[in-house]
Amino acid sequence: MEREYFYSIMNGQGTLDYEIYLNTHALLSCQKDYQELCNQDELQFQIVHQSEELWMKLIAYTLLDIDDYIQKENTNRVITLFNRVHGIQKIMIQQLSLLETMSPKEYQEIRIHLGNGSGQESPGFRTIMKMYQPLWKSFKTFYLDKHGLTLEKIYDTEYSHCNAYMIAEALAEYDELFQKFRYHHIQLIHRTIGMGSQSLKGRPVELLESGMRMKFFPELWEVRNKMTDAWGLQYGKVRESIANKEKSIAI
Ligand code: HEM
Repeated sequence: MEREYFYSIMNGQGTLDYEIYLNTHALLSCQKDYQELCNQDELQFQIVHQSEELWMKLIAYTLLDIDDYIQKENTNRVITLFNRVHGIQKIMIQQLSLLETMSPKEYQEIRIHLGNGSGQESPGFRTIMKMYQPLWKSFKTFYLDKHGLTLEKIYDTEYSHCNAYMIAEALAEYDELFQKFRYHHIQLIHRTIGMGSQSLKGRPVELLESGMRMKFFPELWEVRNKMTDAWGLQYGKVRESIANKEKSIAI
């Protein structure tokens, strides 16, 4: 196929209604010109990062709506919108693996062009990192405190699979999928530059592992520990084997 010909038509003219509405002219100009790409993997590298930024923009926008609906206690809306966020998070995780089709050497060639850029400068990531605390505050105020509820009550002593429980589980899913994204991102680093290396800001890449242990909503994970301890009081830390019990009954 004649490369130059296809390069000349791939971005379109930007004049048809479809192109105008979706602003394809601007969108398809966001990547380097074909002639300037440093190798055949660079277009993929830019497109995956840019798509991830768009998905994070949609997550942040949706979380603003979710926060409004939490404050109105509109549970159905909150759950539907959280389904959307969770779906986006799964797409984001899947997309990361595309970059594993890039060889370590080809990534090194791209890396030379990144200046001292770092994923920590991502506007989407930075916004998301500022949203989890206000979100938690709204949940606590409108679904727990206002109704005299606690996590311990909705998960255990007064468990009824109520609205507050549903929202809490949606928050837990969001938190878990974010950790999964961080985990897969670390796997990607293992594949490309190695975890023993330094970031383009000179920081040890291993620091990312502490981020992976960070939880947005630690209370939601703690309540599970507390339940296991409380329920465990019935049988102590180590349980007697069921097989032993059956043997002693038989004797
Ligand atoms: C070959 C691909 C990639 C490599 C080698 C890579 C490498 C790195 C490294 C070394 C860091 C640490 C930066 C520092 O400490 O300053 C980092 C952070 C980060 N990267 Fe990537 N990355 C890749 C792809 C991506 C993609 C596709 C995204 C999509 C959004 C992304 C998002 C981030 C984010 C959000 C951070 C900050 C994470 C945190 O603090 O937990 N990275 N990346």
